[in-house]
Amino acid sequence: MPNKAILEIDGKKYEFPVLIGTENEVAIDISSLRGATKGVITLDPGFKNTGSCESKITFLDGEKGILRHRGYAIEELTKKASFLEVAYLVIFGELPTKAEFNKFEDDIKSHSMVNEEVKNIIDGFPKIAHPMGVLSSLTSALTAFNPGTVNVNSKEDMYQAIVRLLAKFPVLASWAHRINKGLPLNYSDNSLDYISNIMQMMFKIPTEEFKLNPIAVRALDELLILHEDHEQNCSTSTVRIAGSSAAGLFASISAGVSALWGPLHGGANQAVLEMLEEIQKDGGDVDKFINKAKDKNDPFRLMGFGHRVYKNFDPRARIIKKAADELFQDLNLNDPILDIAKHLEEVALKDEYFAERKLYPNVDFYSGIIYRALGVPVEMFTVMFAIGRLPGWIAQWKEMRENGEPIGRPRQLYTGETLRTFKSFEER
Ligand code: SDX
Repeated sequence: MPNKAILEIDGKKYEFPVLIGTENEVAIDISSLRGATKGVITLDPGFKNTGSCESKITFLDGEKGILRHRGYAIEELTKKASFLEVAYLVIFGELPTKAEFNKFEDDIKSHSMVNEEVKNIIDGFPKIAHPMGVLSSLTSALTAFNPGTVNVNSKEDMYQAIVRLLAKFPVLASWAHRINKGLPLNYSDNSLDYISNIMQMMFKIPTEEFKLNPIAVRALDELLILHEDHEQNCSTSTVRIAGSSAAGLFASISAGVSALWGPLHGGANQAVLEMLEEIQKDGGDVDKFINKAKDKNDPFRLMGFGHRVYKNFDPRARIIKKAADELFQDLNLNDPILDIAKHLEEVALKDEYFAERKLYPNVDFYSGIIYRALGVPVEMFTVMFAIGRLPGWIAQWKEMRENGEPIGRPRQLYTGETLRTFKSFEER
């Protein structure tokens, strides 16, 4: 591979360095383009061809359906590690020793109380408020209770902000659910592991003993591992660009929650379930919905299908589909929605339209079916995605700040009116 790229504009040649990543990906460094050409820029709506940074956290190969965190394959991590262990790996770069993990877990537990004044904010939300809007607001509000800005050059300062956020975020997420259902708020239970604690905060009611099902806990642990990071997706890019202005960690994560909410991104898991329920209500005719998805005049999309990077199976979708089967078998569950999802996938994958556009099921296609089996209400599906993605957002924010990356400020190609003279009302 040549180590430079040559661009010719108006007969003049410009050279740019070519960078090769550790997985042999190739990038043209155009950081000198505008200066060298006296004003020429590139244009790439949606950044489909544009890298925003170098990163050591996650490697994706969309053509081969590969996903690795810090070099470890997602298939191995979901089988052999816990959510919090993978969070440590994603954030700090190495799998923790037992002592490091125990300290990490204890430090998180030591911050699991949320300032009681947050309840005054929660009481201000209408009961019908979507939990993602509540979570984004409460996460930003955490800044009010933790005003000190993170000194990114201090390992200890960074560590304290990280364990504080990992501790409080799931509490806020569970509170967003509880107020939505008119239920009393639960506190963290430090006698439980991270995932079991999330389940007790979400589901425990004061009038009955709360029983944890280890199969359900493991299924949620595995599902959240699959969401931990995904390189420069929409919400992670939002966290990075917010943080690039030196906005605080909590404020930057709050921006990421808002970006994740969109139905084209993390909101798709809720949209998938709503789509499957609509198909079920409509009599289960998947062909009708496949045709709607193919019809350019119909805004309907097959939610949970397609991906900006994966032009092959999303490896996470494969794992989640298998986990859903195992969970349903272990818990002796039967949900016609799972059958509809499988039938829809089978028909779509045989259809020319999806095949030629390389549209496969993504992480959101089956995840909602597991959340539903665990008793998570559909409006909380994207909140669960946010809990899963939190370690990745933190890791990417930390990497960007520690690398001293410049404030994100893209250019544009102006195509509006050229100079014109102001006209008074009488002249208009
Ligand atoms: C996530 O980036 C990440 O890593 C995200 C994520 C993560 O972990 O952070 O993986 C999580 O966001 C997964 C994606 C969840 N979203 C959905 O499931 C929503 C449905 N899918 C899409 O809307 C779409 O596939 C996107 C948004 C995911 C990707 O869109 P792109 O890359 O911009 O592709 P596109 O919209 O330009 O589509 C290319 C073609 C178009 O047809 P043509 O104009 O070429 O004829 O494929 C069609 C699209 O109309 N198409 C679909 C489709 N997705 C794409 N047609 C029907 N149904 C779909 N789902």
